[in-house]
Amino acid sequence: MHQAKLTLDPAFKVAPVRRRTFGTFVEHLGRCVYTGIYEPGHPSADEDGFRRDVLDLTRELGVSTVRYPGGNFVSGYRWEDGIGPISERPRRLDLAWHSTEPNEVGVDEFVRWCRKAGVEPMMALNLGTRGVAEALDLLEYCNHPSGTTLSDLRVANGAKEPHGIGMWCLGNEMDGPWQIGHKTAREYGRLAAETARAMRMVDPALELVVCGSSSSHMPTFGAWEATVLEETYDLVDYVSCHAYYEEKDGDLGSFLASSSNMEYFISSVVASADAAGARLKSRKKIDISFDEWNVWYLSRFQNAEPPADWPVAPPLLEDHYHLADAVAFGGLLITLLRNSDRVTAASLAQLVNVIAPIMTEPGGRAWRQTTFHPFAQASRYAAGDVLRVEPVSPSYETKEYGEVPLVHAVATHAQEGGTTLFAVNRSTDGPVSLEIDTRALGGVRVVEATTLTDSDVYARNTADDPGRIAPRPNTDVEHDPARILLPPVSWNVIRLA
Ligand code: AHR
Repeated sequence: MHQAKLTLDPAFKVAPVRRRTFGTFVEHLGRCVYTGIYEPGHPSADEDGFRRDVLDLTRELGVSTVRYPGGNFVSGYRWEDGIGPISERPRRLDLAWHSTEPNEVGVDEFVRWCRKAGVEPMMALNLGTRGVAEALDLLEYCNHPSGTTLSDLRVANGAKEPHGIGMWCLGNEMDGPWQIGHKTAREYGRLAAETARAMRMVDPALELVVCGSSSSHMPTFGAWEATVLEETYDLVDYVSCHAYYEEKDGDLGSFLASSSNMEYFISSVVASADAAGARLKSRKKIDISFDEWNVWYLSRFQNAEPPADWPVAPPLLEDHYHLADAVAFGGLLITLLRNSDRVTAASLAQLVNVIAPIMTEPGGRAWRQTTFHPFAQASRYAAGDVLRVEPVSPSYETKEYGEVPLVHAVATHAQEGGTTLFAVNRSTDGPVSLEIDTRALGGVRVVEATTLTDSDVYARNTADDPGRIAPRPNTDVEHDPARILLPPVSWNVIRLA
């Protein structure tokens, strides 16, 4: 049995819990939109064609923001295709995903869906094939109340109230050679700056996200941020990070420690951003929008042939997550929370069907993947302030990241609502007995403890067995001092009050 210990102290405050940490992403990709959020013929479809079962699960997941409409898709997208009468909308080739885009869902439908789901829309702009003028048009269409051609068009299309979209991504992964309209850092930085400057002439209060690196493994990582921020520092609020992780070559130990790469990524981008600020003698700080993160078996996708016949909404990137994926995922979520001083927005990529916590059958059932649970629990119970927690834990050797602690954890603390500890045990060979020093919190007790685990680390949820992996009460709890047994390969939520 491994032994570990940590201390909870409300004095060790990192930052407030940011609701935007619990953002997700809906891209016109595979079945995320069509037969995901939208399926007019489905038995649960509402009057707008939105699946009520997916809306219910989105609310249960506790989503705050939703990034839209891409992703790689956005870099070839004409937003005007997605407005007006649906029967008159054009069908277009989507080069990013080798599919046909029917444009039955566009910005007005998406915002309507957001209102129903109770989430904030976050809009990405096409800076691949388009530029400043089209970005300004979309902004005017969405946010200007009325009295101009574009805002009156929105009203005529049924959206009397402005969409009021506050957060805008200036393109997507423009550092990636796979991106339509891929640019050098200088080319992109200039275009992003010009776009941001013009958008701020319309509304200085917009929150703008400039593209950072699409992974910390990119050859341009670091240099990209330096150049792009040199061009845009005073004009933007966030720089983006994207990262996906998968188990490679059966190396479960490294995979469970994926958050080590995320920690490195975040600290490097913070350093780049602060260095750019120092060079400009600016007092302003740029935050991170970690607006694509997840477990994604990208190598499987890269080894597959693209759809041959340009289908509409083909099943793409439909990873079926197992327990180990959920534990690696929980570790990533803990890392995002631990860095809440600078990571003030994040988007789990994606929401439905495409590398997603929610799966659907066309015309049929919807269910929760294993990764649904850490996200939903963290969104529900993280409240107040994030507390720094430094577990004293045995470590293990990984091929990718060297020595890594078995226990990775973060806590949040609210005057009302108590203190919640989120912890993963990455050990594959045994439980960890975790002692929790609660003396600084006064007379608190563990009031609820749940664990996500299974004897088979590769067990999954399916439509027929949707509850195989779900949080269950953990009764291996002692009081005075507080102690809990964390099973091997597990995600745990311990609530104290
Ligand atoms: O989320 C899937 C894809 O991953 C997105 O379209 C792209 O931005 C990233 O490479």
